[in-house]
Amino acid sequence: MEDKQVYYLSPTRQFNAEEQQLIWKKPASHIIGEEELRICHEVKRNWHRGEMKIANILLEGDAGSGKTQLAKALSADFGLPYTKVTCFSDMDKSDIIGAILPVISEEHLHRMDATDQKVLKALYESDGFQSAQTILMEALQMTGDQATSHLKDLIKKVSSDMKEEAVEYRFYPSEIVRAYEHGYLLEIQEPTVIRDAAVLMALNSALELDGSINLPTKVVHRHPDFIVVLTTNRDYNGSKHLNEALRDRVQHVEKMDLPSKEVMIERAIAKTLFSKQEVLGVLADCIIILDQTARANAIKGVAGMRSYLYWIDAVAADIPAKNAMYHKVIYKMTTDEEEIRLLEEALRGHGMFAQLEEVETVVKKQQ
Ligand SMILES: Nc1ncnc2c1ncn2[C@@H]1O[C@H](COP(=O)(O)OP(=O)(O)OP(=O)(O)O)[C@@H](O)[C@H]1O
Ligand SMILES: [Mg+2]
Repeated sequence: MEDKQVYYLSPTRQFNAEEQQLIWKKPASHIIGEEELRICHEVKRNWHRGEMKIANILLEGDAGSGKTQLAKALSADFGLPYTKVTCFSDMDKSDIIGAILPVISEEHLHRMDATDQKVLKALYESDGFQSAQTILMEALQMTGDQATSHLKDLIKKVSSDMKEEAVEYRFYPSEIVRAYEHGYLLEIQEPTVIRDAAVLMALNSALELDGSINLPTKVVHRHPDFIVVLTTNRDYNGSKHLNEALRDRVQHVEKMDLPSKEVMIERAIAKTLFSKQEVLGVLADCIIILDQTARANAIKGVAGMRSYLYWIDAVAADIPAKNAMYHKVIYKMTTDEEEIRLLEEALRGHGMFAQLEEVETVVKKQQ
């Protein structure tokens, strides 16, 4: 992708400063993979083809296979602001659509504690461009998930305090609605965990290509640039399968696995700057064997890219490879004696312990 803007979907579109900030900038360590190229090509190809447009994408597969990074990379490729929601099991409709908050009097406001006052003021002063979640994140320096649950508590508190006073209400759209209305790229993480059918229905209708969402205050139409990237772990080890109706509404799917050994090494060099090929190769082999053994024996833990990166980082800092493997990889998968024994047996069967000892001498020799 020599020309950075070849896949921009709306090259003439103007963004405000805040939106500009949300467009991901690829770090030097980002490596473009075939999945990324395929999606860019497909989305661009069909962008102006009406009902054949591809704007809902599913990335399904192993933890740490690069789903989130791919969603962010697409924000950079398409030139669209990136935003995300992390789903949780007891999500309700206000998490999909937004929340109604009573506007309380100045006098009442002064009786509340300082933090609540600060948040409510920020909410009342907002121009409706940011979602309530973003406002809370900024006012209280919280993560998105903390902000969501804090907002719910606050609404409960204010609403129950307000019983007697006649009040005005304001509506604060969710992050989903904001992305939908303004045309951003939205990553929806783990929609499989949502339990409430009504919430899934609301999400379904938000994925309709030519849809609209009815809010208490107005009807918002899907912005032509709105792109949804659903990211989920595959449903092995008991995690739930993605709701069929939701699945049916995506127009392109990538099956994301633990990357190939070559790609693992390439990403690791870019990330850790440790570049001893023979060492990286042995550690990658171990991760691959551990991953396969875990699957074959229904061991729940994951040996993936993240463990690999931290393991390399430890080895690069002189910690013996075999020792570091337990703390960065194996115990992360399981601390059950029997399962550990199975994993060790698999490594021994492939001669990996001997190779790890060689790795230790290679690393030592270099100092
Ligand atoms: N294309 C890439 N180039 C370089 N590094 C990458 C790439 N994709 C992913 N990584 C690195 O691999 C690690 C895991 O990636 P990421 O968080 O995107 O995985 P994920 O599939 O979203 O995981 P989870 O299922 O846990 O959400 C991160 O450290 C990330 O920076
Ligand atoms: Mg992720």
